[in-house]
Amino acid sequence: MAETTVQMPAARARVRAMMEYHPPLGSRDALRLDFNENTLACSSKVSETLAQISAGSLTRYPEREPVEAIVAAHLGLKPEQVALTNGVDEAIHVLFETFLEAGDELLLPVPTYTMYEVYASSTDAQAVTVLAGDNLEFPFERLLAAITPRTKIIAVANPNSPSGTVATRAQLLEIARRAPQAVLLVDEAYFHFYGETVMDLIGQVPNLMVARTFSKAYGLAGLRLGLLAGPVELMRWVRRVLSPYSVNSLALACLPPALNDTAYLDWYVSEVLAARAELEAALDKLEVKRWPSRANFILVDIGAKHREFVQRMRTAGVLVRDRSNDPGCEGRVRVTIGTREQMGAAIAALKETMAALQ
Ligand SMILES: Cc1ncc(COP(=O)(O)O)c(C=O)c1O
Repeated sequence: MAETTVQMPAARARVRAMMEYHPPLGSRDALRLDFNENTLACSSKVSETLAQISAGSLTRYPEREPVEAIVAAHLGLKPEQVALTNGVDEAIHVLFETFLEAGDELLLPVPTYTMYEVYASSTDAQAVTVLAGDNLEFPFERLLAAITPRTKIIAVANPNSPSGTVATRAQLLEIARRAPQAVLLVDEAYFHFYGETVMDLIGQVPNLMVARTFSKAYGLAGLRLGLLAGPVELMRWVRRVLSPYSVNSLALACLPPALNDTAYLDWYVSEVLAARAELEAALDKLEVKRWPSRANFILVDIGAKHREFVQRMRTAGVLVRDRSNDPGCEGRVRVTIGTREQMGAAIAALKETMAALQ
């Protein structure tokens, strides 16, 4: 048979230039200190709700508005100021699709959450990065200096990952003021471990938008639930791009019980904060350099043996995340904080691993 060449459709040039992003998930049957998840479980009220979901209810398309109204009330906002999303990842994706066009700039302090650059690279805009200093502090002055008339979105994770450092409210307000042509996205994925927010400024600061996730403190990463809040005028644009069905009905059913079970949330957060202090003390004793963190993880400096460190910790049953490929993070490893009991096991593994690396 004569050979024929099959012509295949080509993706857009920007997509052809993108790298595929594969988070290193794989087999994770161990103590999961690698993805900043809740390391234990969600509230039992959520699992009870899941158990009661009927087969018949799954035949219906999800209805997001009633749950958006509940979440808005919980945050002290109007329903039109809040959209639920399929994780914060979808909020980022949709926000970038809504606002970024050719010639625009997305301004990012780095190192930061990887997906900002991934989603920016599929738009026709340019990502402009501003490197944090060696102490990984928020590069406030340099970020201000990098604002141009083309800056269209500035994304700040607060607290930031993988560093755990924060930008102050005054700094965020100044950034918003200095870039009125841009959306300032404050990604508060780790809010519950930090306690400070700019959510109360939604609607007052015309270019401020805030994202929150249910993947971290609430322990619902598998359900994919996040939210985006912003002034009504900006949310109207976002809703044109956002799918009305991207948050599924199981997630919508689980959200109210998750919000209502404040006792569970408070307990989990207090466990993490106590465990974080214990890990900090253990790291200091072992003379491992660490960065002060306001989130449920700590970045540590392992140096040249970072790969062996991660591998040995895995062998000891503890997964941690090598961040060496992040800008300015060579040799640095991020350790998620779980409960005190879990961190007791992690600290024992850490001591053995550090001794073996000597
Ligand atoms: C800063 C930040 N934003 C967003 C996310 C992802 O959130 P979600 O699971 O809601 O997509 C992460 C996850 O690691 C994160 O670190």
